[in-house]
Amino acid sequence: MTTGQNESRLVLFPPTAEVDGKGHLVIGGCDTVALAEEFGTPLYIFDEQTLRQKCAEFRNEFGKRYPDVAIVYAGKAFVNRALAVILKDEGLGLDVVSRGELSIARSVDFPMEKIYFHGNNKSAGELDMALESKVGRIVIDNFQELDMLAGMAVQRGAAPDVLLRLTPGVDPHTHRHISTGVEDSKFGIPLASADEAVSRAMAAPGLNLVGLQFHLGSQIFEVEPYRDAIRVIMDLAAEMKARHGFELKELDVGGGFAVQYTVDSTAPPVADYAEMITATVTEKCRQQNLELPKLIIEPGRSIVGRAGVALYRAGVVKEIPGIRCYVSVDGGMADNIRPALYDARYEAVVANRMNDKEKKKVTIAGKFCESGDILIKDIDLPEIAPGDILAVPDCGAYCLAMGSNYNASLKPAIVMVNDGRARLVRRRETYEDLLRHDVV
Ligand code: LLP
Repeated sequence: MTTGQNESRLVLFPPTAEVDGKGHLVIGGCDTVALAEEFGTPLYIFDEQTLRQKCAEFRNEFGKRYPDVAIVYAGKAFVNRALAVILKDEGLGLDVVSRGELSIARSVDFPMEKIYFHGNNKSAGELDMALESKVGRIVIDNFQELDMLAGMAVQRGAAPDVLLRLTPGVDPHTHRHISTGVEDSKFGIPLASADEAVSRAMAAPGLNLVGLQFHLGSQIFEVEPYRDAIRVIMDLAAEMKARHGFELKELDVGGGFAVQYTVDSTAPPVADYAEMITATVTEKCRQQNLELPKLIIEPGRSIVGRAGVALYRAGVVKEIPGIRCYVSVDGGMADNIRPALYDARYEAVVANRMNDKEKKKVTIAGKFCESGDILIKDIDLPEIAPGDILAVPDCGAYCLAMGSNYNASLKPAIVMVNDGRARLVRRRETYEDLLRHDVV
């Protein structure tokens, strides 16, 4: 039996989370306190079952509503080789934005036809690697890229399948740093220039224009912005058909599906997004007399967010009488910059005292040299002593992926847990790793 804070917060952890007889948090059948002991902290845990369940949920919820769907995981949320193997096994595609992400995919023989290459400033080197690797789709973001890619493709005698990324001008009501579908954005081609982009891409001998893409933003709690954007883009597709004979064979609606980070901020289920997206595409096709395009979904956070848990060890506990109690942990903004960057709110539990009731409001601070390095401001927790283990749920997305070596810190280890077994899928960085690239 769990009590108090732990009971309600358990829902934020992977569904395999439970509390054992010692009052320890268990994930994927593994005692997190023992994991912290064995692998050290900070430690990131990924629950394999949750990852696979999430892949299946997307496949099923979209698949049962629409005849031709591809779920393409957005690797920017987090990707490493072990995760790429699981995604491949689950039949997902992969959205990459760099040679690094593509290298990870190639290293595990990820099917190249399922790779979507994105980016607002792809270099010639990146495009060259995309062509050489024969990735499935290149998502063209702007006119400069369109011309460069067309030229490179002709030179190679290739004709890559491409999508055009458009900004539908729809506000998804999310943090401005992660809002991308509005007109004033560094990403994508504005609607006003879409006609020119479509006709130029269609005319380019090196390009095979198969469809259109948009991405509204991230952590979108509403389903209506998808409806609004699909309507805009499909009206445009119909116009382009009439004017240029353009066939919308593929429609890529991006990612952005929200994840629940705190007990009081529930996110819509995948089914709600799936319903709105597939119903709108179907309705629009009927209305505009278009063939149903292949539908592409690019979830990132919603696949990995909940599967990931960060473990930290508490160090200094500093009480400022009448003001605040700071509990400092051995990680922080170098492994999770989200609170500092977006005011992102997380919750936590004390993994080795799951049956203790919360007693006190504390602030969880990181160990990095910046006052803004606060992981969680004001959270009710049981009394914490130095050495206790804090577990933070929903750390699978955009934490390690945006990690740094600030203060010459070492990037954490990652373990994958499943059915009582834990395997290291990234070793902790060492000081040799840190010094390796410096030249004196
Ligand atoms: N597709 C494209 C073209 C994207 O740019 C993104 C995310 C996604 C898909 C996946 O979005 P998701 O389903 O993960 O929301 N660092 C920020 C999030 C940046 C999102 C960037 N693009 C954060 O920590 O909240």
